[in-house]
Amino acid sequence: MENIDPFLRHGLFDAKVPRYTSYPPANHFQNDVGHRHQAEWLSCVNNGEAISIYVHIPFCKRLCWFCACRTQGTQTMRPVDAYVQTLIKEVSAVRAALPSKITMGRLHLGGGTPTILSPETMNTLLNALFDAFDPSDDFEFSVEIDPTEASEPLLQTLIDFGMNRASIGVQDFAPDVQAAIGRLQSLEQTTTVLDFLRAAGLKAINLDLLYGLPFQTEESFRQTLAHVVDMNPDRLAIYGYAHVPWMSKRQVLIKAETLPDTQQRFELANIARDTMLAAGFAAIGIDHFAKPTDSLYKADQAGTLRRNFQGYTDDQSETLIGFGASAISRFRGGYQQNAVATSAYQERILGEGFAAHKGYEMSDTDTLLSAMIEELMCRFHLPTKSLQTQFPEHAQLIRQTVIALMSRYTDVFSINSTGLQMHPETYPLVRIVAHYIDAFNSSEVAHAAAI
Ligand SMILES: C[S@@+](CC[C@H](N)C(=O)[O-])C[C@H]1O[C@@H](n2cnc3c(N)ncnc32)[C@H](O)[C@@H]1O
Ligand code: SF4
Repeated sequence: MENIDPFLRHGLFDAKVPRYTSYPPANHFQNDVGHRHQAEWLSCVNNGEAISIYVHIPFCKRLCWFCACRTQGTQTMRPVDAYVQTLIKEVSAVRAALPSKITMGRLHLGGGTPTILSPETMNTLLNALFDAFDPSDDFEFSVEIDPTEASEPLLQTLIDFGMNRASIGVQDFAPDVQAAIGRLQSLEQTTTVLDFLRAAGLKAINLDLLYGLPFQTEESFRQTLAHVVDMNPDRLAIYGYAHVPWMSKRQVLIKAETLPDTQQRFELANIARDTMLAAGFAAIGIDHFAKPTDSLYKADQAGTLRRNFQGYTDDQSETLIGFGASAISRFRGGYQQNAVATSAYQERILGEGFAAHKGYEMSDTDTLLSAMIEELMCRFHLPTKSLQTQFPEHAQLIRQTVIALMSRYTDVFSINSTGLQMHPETYPLVRIVAHYIDAFNSSEVAHAAAI
């Protein structure tokens, strides 16, 4: 076992810190900010820019007990079809507010379960999106696929519209773990979907796994990982299970005493890492793995890896527009989040055409902090020299941050010619370090430095 003293010292096993898929995290968004800015931010997107589009489908036929995603159960297609009609109205309102020559660099369908749509409804939705936005030359179209809810005609519809990346939910293959998280999914169901997609020519496949699930043991997880290696994906996300029953009520069905403790979680994460490295994958950031042929690996090598609401990405677009209930848009000026409840979202779209209810307007200091945290999360590096060039008015705040980090995390950072670099064995601490920078910004010393 590796030396865990630095992790104990810096509170790794007790910390409850954000995943920093954005700075500030979405729970800091403020009421009505996004609403006030939405039309202005849309009109200010650079004409000719290739934007990224996210479409949220908040429906599932079954509700897995572990799941913390914004979704709701349905057994009939009526609410889903009505929701898609609302989405189409939103696409049309947003398109009208954008400059004329915008193209679509990325389209991601997430959820919930996008593959719950009937082929006809999916066809209607995709026609509306492609009518509104021409795809750019290097267009990527990715979809989250639940293998237990993905008919071949639906998958074929996605392929026909140019889907070129599939993100398939697995979580764990052990039957007792699956039973304890309310998600039964056989190996065959997963391989059938994989075989279909590959036969149809799809070359980029992601799988999602979780560690820290109930009854997961080192042995059972090794078995799951062996199946995953056999499936030969291009990319993997292996997240730590977040047990937050106060936020995600369905998780009360998972008994806390069946979960591995934090030390065991750490061992499971190490097993995942060792297995994937041995299988020829590279570790990307804190929770992704990619083959050298995958675009995430190439972005990591080129130093252009980014972080957004889906986690790590090679997407370089500055503008991300989210459609649907709870979807978040990112503009140069800030964030805007749609109404979270499906009914509230629908009411707003039918009433006002837009559905933003929350948001965050970025100050210059926020933009600097966002850049620092993204650099750390993606490259475990604080490029102080380039940050000082980019934010000359904040040179003092950057210096103060460096001093604070170097005195608190003497065993984590070293100084190199471009800034501060974390030692590889301390990478698991990166969210704690990011949180320290976040909290440091609200301290008196940072405010004194910012003036
Ligand atoms: C929208 S969900 C899955 C998409 C699709 N509905 C499916 O079931 O395959 C996207 C991913 O979020 C991750 N996720 C969901 N709940 C989580 C939790 N409580 N902790 C960590 N990751 C979670 C899972 O890995 C999941 O595959
Ligand atoms: S894991 Fe997927 S299918 Fe299960 S509840 Fe979450 S979004 Fe729905």
